[in-house]
Amino acid sequence: MTLSVENLSFSYEKKVLVLENLSFSIAKGKFIGIFGPNGGGKTTLLKLLLGLMHPSEGRIEVLGQPPSEVTDRLGYVPQVRRLDKTFPISVIEVVLHGCLAKHRSFGNFSQKLKNKALEALERVGLQDKAQDPFGTLSGGQIQRTLLARALASDPEILLLDEATVGIDPGALEEIFRFLLQLRGEITILLVTHNLQVIAKEMDYLLCINRELATYTPEQVCEHFAMGLYHPRLMKGEDHD
Ligand SMILES: Nc1ncnc2c1ncn2[C@@H]1O[C@H](COP(=O)(O)OP(=O)(O)OP(=O)(O)O)[C@@H](O)[C@H]1O
Ligand SMILES: [Mg+2]
Repeated sequence: MTLSVENLSFSYEKKVLVLENLSFSIAKGKFIGIFGPNGGGKTTLLKLLLGLMHPSEGRIEVLGQPPSEVTDRLGYVPQVRRLDKTFPISVIEVVLHGCLAKHRSFGNFSQKLKNKALEALERVGLQDKAQDPFGTLSGGQIQRTLLARALASDPEILLLDEATVGIDPGALEEIFRFLLQLRGEITILLVTHNLQVIAKEMDYLLCINRELATYTPEQVCEHFAMGLYHPRLMKGEDHD
């Protein structure tokens, strides 16, 4: 298994469990959706899988090792809530800083790295924006830049925390289409609030609402007719 989680519990402050007793595993090349209500623990789970925080209880193994041992093999697209429009960095620099984590070369960026960053920007259709200030981008362009940044280091697993606001539906579909091209090649975990658009393309879905419930795309699609957060879907019934 590329990723396995066993009896994972986590709390930021003592006694208040944000995640409770999660167990699941994901095989290489799968495309997994993660959904659930605001505050359900999705971002917390991604941070634990990335080794940025440690479980209060339980065990996480990523690529056969503890997450913190393999961070340079993981790509992360964080959830952007707001952005300082005067943030003084260009689009290409944002992507280059993603490459740094892997190559650990400080100071001037080599031409090779720059080419790699440009290539990644081209893959997400933003090559023309390379020299623009990052702060001038739209919500969708920001997500695509952060995706390019994650891809520039050739990750084996890609974890994406989709922004809840600021992305227009067209840009979102474009990102989804792009991710679908990567399927099979890279293991993808995508936190999304737009299940209607993409659920049917996924291998299966994890609903995180402190506890975990697993769904097939068919089960999720069936529930759309009743409203996304219809009680049955959110309660965490066992389906397997
Ligand atoms: N750094 C922190 N310190 C204390 N509590 C936190 C911290 N970060 C998140 N929490 C709490 O943990 C819970 C889960 O938060 P998390 O950000 O993982 O939810 P989420 O599912 O990603 O929500 P959203 O859909 O809004 O992004 C929430 O109750 C939140 O208030
Ligand atoms: Mg979140």
